[in-house]
Amino acid sequence: MTINQAIIESARKLQKNKIPTPRLDADLLLSFILKKPREWMLARPKFKLTKFQIFKINRLVRRRIKGVPLAYLVKEKEFYGLKFKVNKHVLVPRPETEMMVDVIRQQTADSRQQIIFIDVGTGSGCIIITLAKKIRFGRFIATDMSKKALKIAKENAELHNLHNIKFLQGNLLSPIINNPQSPIPNPQLIITANLPYLTPIQLKNSPTVQTEPKNALLGGSDGLKYYRELFEQLKTLKNKKITVLCEIDAGQSGPIAKLIKEKLPEYKFQIKKDLRGLDRLVKIEKI
Ligand SMILES: C[S@@+](CC[C@H](N)C(=O)[O-])C[C@H]1O[C@@H](n2cnc3c(N)ncnc32)[C@H](O)[C@@H]1O
Repeated sequence: MTINQAIIESARKLQKNKIPTPRLDADLLLSFILKKPREWMLARPKFKLTKFQIFKINRLVRRRIKGVPLAYLVKEKEFYGLKFKVNKHVLVPRPETEMMVDVIRQQTADSRQQIIFIDVGTGSGCIIITLAKKIRFGRFIATDMSKKALKIAKENAELHNLHNIKFLQGNLLSPIINNPQSPIPNPQLIITANLPYLTPIQLKNSPTVQTEPKNALLGGSDGLKYYRELFEQLKTLKNKKITVLCEIDAGQSGPIAKLIKEKLPEYKFQIKKDLRGLDRLVKIEKI
């Protein structure tokens, strides 16, 4: 079987099973197996595959058809133009989360202040690593409950040659608040939080996320359990300037607005829409 035949055959099977981008997925899976860029494969359509390579492509196509995200199969995902390692212990970075980075870059474009960037629930580390790459000043801290996720986040920081991010295990901000070794002094804080926000019913009705870690997806009965807890922790921070960016599900803008008014009356907030026009990002500020 040649490269061309393998791609056509794999794309046909993926399409038959309603995978949304069959040709692209077939290209990327074979490119991963051959450890060659797509351009290399496209220039050699008649290149003969070994039996083992054919076995591997068939196996990956079967797993893709079963609903495993492409990123888990090829072990990486692009976020904000940067590559990140992923595995089953971390959420696959989503394009809509890139908006957080854009908002922070705009906010800090002219800033000369000392800022501490904190990413809670860092997963693959995609947000904090992108911030550390793009914003070259400040201090960078990331937390996650999951040791296995933190391992991947640290590997990603290494991959991007970043040694200035502190990764801490624990509940939301508590490893920072409760650590006498790292008191947060006076500087401005910018906190990013893409915390689990799906309800059990939403999770049940989302076939595409079934193989991703439940502890990265489920946010209690109304999806706001972790934001509620984060807002409680925020009350204990005495810093004068704090910005918090929270990613939400489009249906949560009303309930989260109510929660902010109740828990953080001294903060102002706005809700930003994503490129599809859906409420996606809550910017909460104490100035
Ligand atoms: C939706 S994923 C987001 C991952 C990454 N920030 C991103 O945007 O791709 C949520 C992450 O929060 C972590 N998490 C869940 N509960 C947490 C908690 N109480 N404290 C800290 N991290 C938590 C999960 O392990 C998971 O890595």
